[in-house]
Amino acid sequence: MDELETILQMARDAMDRAYVPYSKFRVGAVIKAESGRLYAGCNVENAAYPAGSCAEQGAISAMVLGGDTKIKDIYVMGNGEHPTSPCGSCRQRIREFAMPETRVHICDRNGVRITKNLTEILPISFGPENLES
Ligand code: THU
Repeated sequence: MDELETILQMARDAMDRAYVPYSKFRVGAVIKAESGRLYAGCNVENAAYPAGSCAEQGAISAMVLGGDTKIKDIYVMGNGEHPTSPCGSCRQRIREFAMPETRVHICDRNGVRITKNLTEILPISFGPENLES
């Protein structure tokens, strides 16, 4: 299996494990870190709706726990009719760990549909450098 197929399968597996009793909308995210390691996450909803978390959050937590802090690529896959694009909050979460060349791959179950640099979908962003004095 080539790496892209491995990543897509990880995203499908994550999506299939999503805990989504309320929206029924499954999302899986896979990060390829600068180190080359891969990290997956799924969305986990909550009866108190705003307490739920996005798939990208889960993947970012796994990445940080794994010792990586730079995202080279992130793949976001949902079970909707349209390819699943990261929400605004998750764009900012990705931004925290982004590099100038960080790419966001917007996927459906069958594969990558749209690829953008993070800067294209979150231009003129606020990041850690802004807090430097
Ligand atoms: N969701 C994600 O996991 N990532 C996104 O970027 C968009 C939305 C989840 C949150 C919620 O569990 C479901 O999709 C419907 O909004």
